[in-house]
Order: sequence, then structure tokens, then C-alpha cells
Amino acid sequence: MKTTSRNAVIAGNWKMNYGPRQASEFAGEIVPELDQLVEHYPQIVPIMCPPSISLPAVREVTQAFPRIELGAQNMYFEEKGAFTGEISPAMVRELCRYVILGHSERRTYFGETDDIVNKKAQAALRHGLCPVVCIGERLEQYDAGQTEDVIRFQVQHSLAHFPADAVREVVVAYEPVWAIGTGKAATADGAGKVIALIRRLFEDRYGNEAATTLRILYGGSVTSANISEFMTHPDIDGALVGGASITHDFVEIVQKVIETLQG
Ligand code: PGA
Repeated sequence: MKTTSRNAVIAGNWKMNYGPRQASEFAGEIVPELDQLVEHYPQIVPIMCPPSISLPAVREVTQAFPRIELGAQNMYFEEKGAFTGEISPAMVRELCRYVILGHSERRTYFGETDDIVNKKAQAALRHGLCPVVCIGERLEQYDAGQTEDVIRFQVQHSLAHFPADAVREVVVAYEPVWAIGTGKAATADGAGKVIALIRRLFEDRYGNEAATTLRILYGGSVTSANISEFMTHPDIDGALVGGASITHDFVEIVQKVIETLQG
């Protein structure tokens, strides 16, 4: 049995899938099942992150199921004003508690830098949101043996300047870019090593207590077929799930997490 004081976070990143109508239908199918599964497991935190336009529709469904958390996939760091197309931290907080920030698709297609991601993460914390900050190396960096350097740099720049007592609200997702949407997940050992490094870097920066409470997830081609491997690793606190989170497999993933916690 895995012994950790940290919660197991299973977050589903729906990406640009399911508008309000479909999102409501899908949530209606899986939310009651998820709720029943986690009923006796307060240490499991299931989070669904639909497109922000679908958040109100999904919230209607989850309202009767307070154990099921919601998150946005992005937000801007400014409070309000002339930023066409953006949503503010306060707007997100009206609907949910979590927000994914710095996903590699945001970095690749929308030019998000570590500096921008850091501003967003700080704004999230100021507004009582839990940022799920994504970091991870690209394939060419992995092949060149640069993973550790990339991670050090990203932690130093994306995850900087947090008040030490706010770190317990932060979730880090280690997502090697080469594993996202490719069906080629990292090994639990490989991901666990990087995650242990991230925890050490947090310890250097924010102290032992903050590092001990920090939740660090693995992301990249997670399904119900491989989640157990990741969850049994002592350093991995959960998963950020993309493709499998918009299918019934998300329920099976949570079921597997429960089985691994039972030992
Ligand atoms: P994937 O995506 O599970 O489809 O690989 C993970 C992610 O992008 O967070």
C-alpha cells in the first residue's frame, strides 16, 4: 500500500473538446459514477477541466456532487480590461477552484513563456485558485539528455516567487512533451526520477515542509492500462490525463487509482 500524506489528484484536461451541450451530456454520464467511486476515498481528488465556455454547463451537473472538482485550462493574469478573448482569474474562480497553466500546447501554439506562466500562477494564487502548472522537456531535449537542465530552468522560472505558505495550493504536472498524445508514455521510473528532482528543487527554494506537501502529477498518454504503474510509484501523486479524460476510461482510471491505494 502506498503511504503518503498527499492527496491523489486525477485531473482530466478535455482540451478543445465538447461544447456546452456535449460537455453536459458527458458529465451527466460519468460524474455520478465518479462520485460513487470516490465516496469512501477522501484522499482522491478528481478534477474535470472542460473548455471554459462549457464550465457553467458542467458545473450544473457537478453541483450535486461536491467531491468532483472543476478546473479551467487557461486564464490571463490581468484583473480585467481590454484583453479581447481572455478570461480573468476572478472569472475562473467564480466557477471552479483549479486552473491548468503553461500546458505544452499553450507554450507551443500560443507562445507562452515561463515568465507568462509564472505571472499566471501567481495571479491564480492571489485569487484563491490552485494552479496546475505544467512543465516538461521536448523530444529533442530528451534525446540530447537535457531533461534535468530543462526542468531546473522551468522550475526556476515558471514556479518562482510563490509565498512558501501558498505552495500547498500548487500542483505541478510533469509532462514530457514527447509523451503527450503520442501513446508513448514515460516509464514510471523515468517520470518518478524527474518528479523527485522537482521536489528537491522545491525544497531548496521553499523549504522542506512546502516540498513535502507539493503535489506532483505525471502527464502524457495516461490511460486505465498504465495508471497503476504510475500511482504505485512513491514520488508520483497523480496524473494529468488528456485523451482518456473525454471517454469513459476516466472512470476506469479513478477505479484503478482506488485499487492501487488499497494495495
Ligand atoms: P494525453 O495528454 O493524455 O492525451 O497524452 C496529456 C495532456 O496533454 O495533459
